[in-house]
Amino acid sequence: MASRDKPPAHVLLAAIPSLKLAPGQPVEWHNIPEFNLLARNITVPGISPLYPDVHCTYDGSICQIITGQAEINAASTMSSLLNSPRFDLTSTYFLLAGIAGISPKHATVGGVTFARYAVQSGLQHEIDAREMPTHFTSGYFAQGTTGPGQYPEWIVGTEVFEVNDALRQVAVDLAKTANLTDTDACKRLRATYTSPIYAAGAAAPAVVARCDTLTSDTFWTGSLLAEAFENATLLLTNQDGVYCSTQQEDNAVLNALLRAALSGLVDFSRIIVMRAGSDFDRPPEGGSAAENLFALAVGFPPALLNLRIAGVKIVQGIVDGWAGTFKRGIEPTNDIGDIFGSLREKRDSTSRLSQAFFGRRVGRG
Ligand SMILES: *[C@@H]1O[C@H](CO)[C@@H](O)[C@H](O)[C@H]1NC(C)=O
Ligand SMILES: *[C@@H]1O[C@H](CO)[C@@H](O)[C@H](O)[C@H]1NC(C)=O
Ligand SMILES: *[C@@H]1O[C@H](CO)[C@@H](O)[C@H](O)[C@H]1NC(C)=O
Repeated sequence: MASRDKPPAHVLLAAIPSLKLAPGQPVEWHNIPEFNLLARNITVPGISPLYPDVHCTYDGSICQIITGQAEINAASTMSSLLNSPRFDLTSTYFLLAGIAGISPKHATVGGVTFARYAVQSGLQHEIDAREMPTHFTSGYFAQGTTGPGQYPEWIVGTEVFEVNDALRQVAVDLAKTANLTDTDACKRLRATYTSPIYAAGAAAPAVVARCDTLTSDTFWTGSLLAEAFENATLLLTNQDGVYCSTQQEDNAVLNALLRAALSGLVDFSRIIVMRAGSDFDRPPEGGSAAENLFALAVGFPPALLNLRIAGVKIVQGIVDGWAGTFKRGIEPTNDIGDIFGSLREKRDSTSRLSQAFFGRRVGRG
């Protein structure tokens, strides 16, 4: 039985702050009617000094940790939490909740999205486009290769993670019961995305069921980089991933969770990757990339609010359905984990994600 000092958290919300927030904020999840995350504060050594406490409901069934921004902060925070003796996280659901740059091909500002794959895009070679060979389509290309379009030769293991797709669908259905908010400023921004290929960007904010995400410490912008990363996502996911959002933490958090899963500390089939669009990753057709980056990020307030509005439905759904469904778990029907197939009993090329990786290794003898 869990002692009072060791919350058997049903849901752990990994909230990711943005630079636009003062430390101590994500107030969106505090002082809400549904549950009180400030009833118990648990200080955990090694988590972000800006957010030194894990905030929990009194019974410990719902907790929130703030990871800190960007990959190194997020990985350090999550490793400290996952190895802390103060929590039993073996049956906990992890809801990753943060804002993201969004592709107007698939979603919009204020929209709430769910990923199956998270791809690490910063882990590449880069030659400044002004110095790259003339036949290159991008200055970014995979490590150990000689140009864009080639599968990486140097693999470190954090390039791509795949989460439980059946759980993603359950989370989407719960999120869809929420009424998302919108603002006039967001409506005006969307109205500038008039190209038919950006129909999703121009539409009202919605829950987007499938929106694969990209992790990079570099806060990039622009159509050309977006296209390069769309290509990288396809390459690393065996043509199955659809690049849709860009952020600075998810692969870091997922790698910490993968290692914890390998140590029996968490169940990797209990992870939901949720991101809300705070800004577009590229300008409207014919627009300026720099202007897109420097413009006032009008999507931040509704993105933060909608993360909470949709996220509360997911948290409540898990807690309310604990005995009937979630305690036992949602069996994944896809191969979850990393490129190596680390969580599979048999590490071979039958996993979709691993096919490209093992295919290369076999092919090279
Ligand atoms: C937990 O910390 C928050 C500030 O982060 C504070 O407002 C709240 O009162 C604290 N709760 C308890 C039970 O001490
Ligand atoms: C969403 O809004 C509609 C119309 O205002 C309302 O009928 C419905 O109850 C709301 N749903 C939730 C979950 O708040
Ligand atoms: C992306 O891939 C397509 C198809 O292979 C190619 O035509 C395009 O030039 C690539 N774009 C970038 C930026 O690498």
